[in-house]
Amino acid sequence: MQADFEIEHASGSDKPSYDFIVVANRLPVDRVQGEDGELSWRRSPGGLVTAIAPVMQESDGAWVGWHGATDEELEPFENDGIHLIPVPLEECDLELYYEGFSNSTLWPLYHDVIVPPEFHRTWWDNYKKVNKRFAEATASVAKPGATVWVQDYQLQLVPKLLREARPDLRIGFFNHIPFPSPGIFSQLPWRRQILEGLAGADVVGFQRTADASNFLRCMRRFTDRTVKGSLAIPPASPGESGSTGNICRAEAHPISIDTQQVAELAHDPEIMARAKQIRQELGNPKTIMLGVDRLDYTKGIRHRLKAYGELLADGEIHVGEACMVQVASPSRENVERYQQLKDQVELMVGNLNGEHDTMEHTAIRYLHHSYPLREMIALYLAADIMLVTSLRDGMNLVAKEFVAAHTDDTGMLVLSEFTGAADQLTQAVLVNPHDIDGMKSGIMRALRMDPQDSARRMRRMRRHLRDHDVATWSQTFLSSLAQPLPVDTLV
Ligand code: G6P
Repeated sequence: MQADFEIEHASGSDKPSYDFIVVANRLPVDRVQGEDGELSWRRSPGGLVTAIAPVMQESDGAWVGWHGATDEELEPFENDGIHLIPVPLEECDLELYYEGFSNSTLWPLYHDVIVPPEFHRTWWDNYKKVNKRFAEATASVAKPGATVWVQDYQLQLVPKLLREARPDLRIGFFNHIPFPSPGIFSQLPWRRQILEGLAGADVVGFQRTADASNFLRCMRRFTDRTVKGSLAIPPASPGESGSTGNICRAEAHPISIDTQQVAELAHDPEIMARAKQIRQELGNPKTIMLGVDRLDYTKGIRHRLKAYGELLADGEIHVGEACMVQVASPSRENVERYQQLKDQVELMVGNLNGEHDTMEHTAIRYLHHSYPLREMIALYLAADIMLVTSLRDGMNLVAKEFVAAHTDDTGMLVLSEFTGAADQLTQAVLVNPHDIDGMKSGIMRALRMDPQDSARRMRRMRRHLRDHDVATWSQTFLSSLAQPLPVDTLV
């Protein structure tokens, strides 16, 4: 098969090459400025890098990704034992590939079209171009027979591009966000190309069984592949179909958190003291409710605020006795829909506080910031009720972190049915965020739950997280990727 881009093969050049490569839109580091003004790199928080770092160290691995600034080319470098290979993005790539096709076409399309996706051919052209750049950067540093693990919706064309250039590679892909049903996916003008892009992988992983089955249904409907069980099989002579000749397997591998790390931090005396201080600073209310989200329209923040506001107005809960803390971390701030959401949320918060605050107490403390993990754990510990009310969410790791932090089994989680996490955290109070009355009764149920009942539920969820942490996730995915296909599926 002919690659449609020329690559500089690692073997034969002096370039270092690797047996295991993760490819993601972002590198797992943030640039920080020290007190002396010196710039350095710090590992970014997050489960993915925690899970993958040990595999990287064991198997001479590298991470290919964007370093977060535009119009700047950086040489490969090392941080915390991980080889990092920066892929440059120009200002126009940021606009067309990242803010455009990734976050204004694919993101809303894959999240149940909560806001209408926009389809622009210039965005698509740039998405192809940038995906090619990532594939080239990867192909040129992969040792013969290396394993490559591509992450998320920004890079769905990379598996096919890589397979064409380097048929010797073992290629995995993991989609961190939901995969839509064929009815919704059909809107995408480039639906076949995206599916063929993904099918270049040996294994495509999803958060939920429902996502894997949506993907296979789309494969059956929009490509020439035959779907048999979990396999998408290419036509005998791929010809014009645009298909790579490999069989692709779709599987569900729900991602998780570093459960032990969260539990250890929850026992850190400094963090425990900080949790107490947070409660005090909020005036020691009987109940603290907490929301922690990227400021994103998928998270159902407005629905949550509406339910909370109505509970206050109905006199079901009272300011002073109860308080809500909403952390909304800034996200994709150049995208118009995110700017609109920020205005809407801030208007609601203003109205709510104007209506219900007293001199002493506030109804809702709104924080438009990101916080380090230690502060997040303190907030989880300080909170009694965690509100996760996403309208659609691939997984939602905040829900998992809250449960894992409450090692004494106190607290309760109110969790949207439309999160991947709801498939695993079945002991939470599950709610439909579109049903405001249902959400109000869910919150009241969590608030009034018999402590023995809530402790039993929290314990069961925590056990689940102990047995299914992020290391289990990466190990299960990678061992499935290493497995050859069963012989009878090849006929
Ligand atoms: C979601 C996506 C990730 C993305 C993250 C933050 O979790 O699945 O791929 O990195 O949001 O979004 P950002 O656009 O800032 O990378």
